[in-house]
Amino acid sequence: MVKVTVCGAAGGIGQPLSLLLKQSPRISHLSLYDIVNTPGVAADLSHINTQSKVTGHVGNEQLKEAIEGSDVVVIPAGVPRKPGMTRDDLFKINASIVRDLATAAAKYAPKAFMCIISNPVNSTVPIVAEVFKKHGVYDPRRIFGVTTLDIVRASTFIGGLIGAEPSTVACKVVGGHSGHTILPLISQVPGASGKLTPEQIEKVTNRIQFGGDEVVKAKNGAGSATLSMAYAGARFALNLVEAAFFGKSIVECTYVQLDADKQGAQDTKRVIGNELQYFSVPVALGPNGVESILPIGSLSSFEQSLFSKAVAELKGNIAKGTNFVAESK
Ligand code: NAD
Ligand code: LMR
Repeated sequence: MVKVTVCGAAGGIGQPLSLLLKQSPRISHLSLYDIVNTPGVAADLSHINTQSKVTGHVGNEQLKEAIEGSDVVVIPAGVPRKPGMTRDDLFKINASIVRDLATAAAKYAPKAFMCIISNPVNSTVPIVAEVFKKHGVYDPRRIFGVTTLDIVRASTFIGGLIGAEPSTVACKVVGGHSGHTILPLISQVPGASGKLTPEQIEKVTNRIQFGGDEVVKAKNGAGSATLSMAYAGARFALNLVEAAFFGKSIVECTYVQLDADKQGAQDTKRVIGNELQYFSVPVALGPNGVESILPIGSLSSFEQSLFSKAVAELKGNIAKGTNFVAESK
């Protein structure tokens, strides 16, 4: 019996994400929470002939029943970017949305695996961690920033360039989830670095780092990536369910607190130093969430040059999230 709650379930990501989750035989209860429209979304999805029960909960007074007893909570709640905005510009609105949802999870589902999609992920994950600490229920192995869209984009863009079927191209993407903090490790992709010129590698790295902006620009004020994010969010959540509850060995890059596996994180810390508490790293998922943090592996000199910019930006983003909770009543 696995209960998955989607917070922000009526939104651009929330609806297609919920549709994809409804297709999984691994989920027994799909709980949909939003401040608007979830009764309709839930009624609609509940007619699909897969086994999971679907319930809709709307507004703060129904948040407890939505989240209580969840095994997994996925949070795509909050506002998306418009052209000209950075993800950090969303902090003002999204920080308190994520803080309040995390507070409900800490109270009513303290053991849930938390999958954070709301931007700025670099800061919202530390917010969730600080809220859980405040409530005395913090376990760094159970809180994840969902950076899967960066991995999905990397395999699509690199696959297109080297003429490989995109889903077969596995590229680690480490760091954070915003522009220069997104660090695709193309030198480790079998068959890619030999086929690509340094100029092509630089160009595709930049495209992966700014893939979100490509969508924001094309949507021209109507939001950011929703469908590809729903695909990526469902991939992450379902992989987590498979690994945590059904014994499957799965490795995904995800933004976690490096204390989740102090020993395993040593390899990453050799590259980034001790300043950052959070970083997206390859994680072996299992019954406890983060079972181990795996090495990020060797970097090309080009990749190494990207790291210092990323570390400086991430440091500020993490402090902003942590301080926000410390300063909240
Ligand atoms: P959207 O505006 O279409 O949907 C957001 C939903 O959140 C809305 O239905 C809204 O009612 C709901 N919401 C607002 N406040 C809430 C609250 N307090 N509790 C519950 N629900 C609440 O936006 P979207 O396009 O779905 O994007 C959502 C978020 O995901 C944005 O912050 C966006 O930047 C982020 N995002 C992250 C990634 C990633 O890779 N991690 C990718 C794409 C988008
Ligand atoms: C993305 O990478 O598509 C998301 O983070 C949304 C955005 O604002 O770009």
